[in-house]
Parts: sequence; C-alpha cells; structure tokens
Amino acid sequence: MYLFINMSHSFQGTYAAMLTIEDYDQDDSWFLALERSSFNESDAMDEMELAEFKADPSNHILLLKYQDIKVGSIVLSYSPNEVYLESFAILPDYRSKSLGGKYLAMLLDRLKRESIPKITAHVRNDNPAKRVYEKQGFSLVNRVPGFYNDGEDALFLVHEFAPN
Ligand SMILES: CC(C)(COP(=O)(O)OP(=O)(O)OC[C@H]1O[C@@H](n2cnc3c(N)ncnc32)[C@H](O)[C@@H]1OP(=O)(O)O)[C@@H](O)C(=O)NCCC(=O)NCCS
Repeated sequence: MYLFINMSHSFQGTYAAMLTIEDYDQDDSWFLALERSSFNESDAMDEMELAEFKADPSNHILLLKYQDIKVGSIVLSYSPNEVYLESFAILPDYRSKSLGGKYLAMLLDRLKRESIPKITAHVRNDNPAKRVYEKQGFSLVNRVPGFYNDGEDALFLVHEFAPN
C-alpha cells in the first residue's frame, strides 16, 4: 500500500511557474493510491482497470506536479472530435488551495493548442468540486438523474474551444 507523506505547503504568493503537467511515469502504485484517496470504492480505478486503460493508446494519464512533487493527475481519453476527462484528482493535502483550477486552466490551454474542439466531463451533482469546472468555463449539457449507484445525479459538462 502506498502511503503519502504529509507535505502540505503554504501556497501563498505566486507559484504558477512551479506547476507543470507531465507524462505518466508508470508508477502505478502511486496512481492507484491517489485514486483511492480521491474517489469512493466503486469509482476509483483498480489495478485491473488501470492495466486495461493503459492498453488503449487513446488513453492518457498526466501527472500534476508542484515543483518536483507529484500532487495529482488528470486522466484523458482522446477520440477524433473530443477529449473526455475521465478523472481529475489532487492529493487531499493539496486540495482547496486553487491548484485544481490552475491545472485545469493549463490543460485547457494545451488542448486548445492541440486544436481539440472540445473537452467533456461528468461529475456527481453533490460533489462541491463541480465548481472547479464551472470556474473554468465548462457548461452543463445534461443532468442524468440516479446515474450513480447510490442514486446521485450526474452532471455532464462540456468546454468548447473557439477555433484557432
Ligand atoms: C476536484 C479537485 C481536483 C479540485 O482541485 P482543488 O485544488 O481542490 O480545486 P481548487 O482549490 O482550484 O477549487 C476550485 C473551486 O472549486 C471549489 N472546490 C473544489 N473542491 C471543493 C470541495 N471539496 N469542497 C468545496 N469546494 C470545492 C473551490 O471552493 C473553488 O471555488 P472558489 O474559488 O469559488 O472557492 C480536488 O478537489 C479533488 O481531487 N477532489 C477529489 C476527486 C474529485 O472529486 N474529482 C472531480 C471529479 S473527476
């Protein structure tokens, strides 16, 4: 079992230059621990799901780094006309410090430069983190009642990019 060391920092001041999005380093133990710390048991990716996910070349795991510290990940699935955001997670100690919004903005900038027309995502209606998507210009496309196993609704969101 992977244990995260508590390395919570003060994020006061300017630190945007220290934030990077990098390719996956194949450290599956770290990634699976992040998933378990971020999602409930039925939603977190397990070892077998991760192996299947990685076997498909249209899927990508990106690492979110603060200086040299891995603080989260963004999981994407590419199709010809859109990118689907499979999951977005930041280690518990680093949440609610505006990092998520900054990484999402960096991702959107990168996808726009790649000429991707749109990114879609879905989130539990009771997840207060839905605000991070709203703040980055995602809009609601559909609300599906009882989508999740426990009866919660899902919000389907999209961010469309203006052509370059
Ligand atoms: C979603 C997640 C990546 C957001 O990262 P973050 O660094 O915490 O987000 P930010 O600090 O940039 O917050 C952005 C906005 O969302 C709100 N928000 C984010 N997470 C929140 C939470 N758990 N509770 C209340 N508000 C939250 C913030 O208040 C902020 O809005 P504000 O600036 O108006 O206050 C992170 O909370 C996380 O890993 N959550 C667990 C996994 C998850 O639910 N992922 C989303 C579905 S895939």
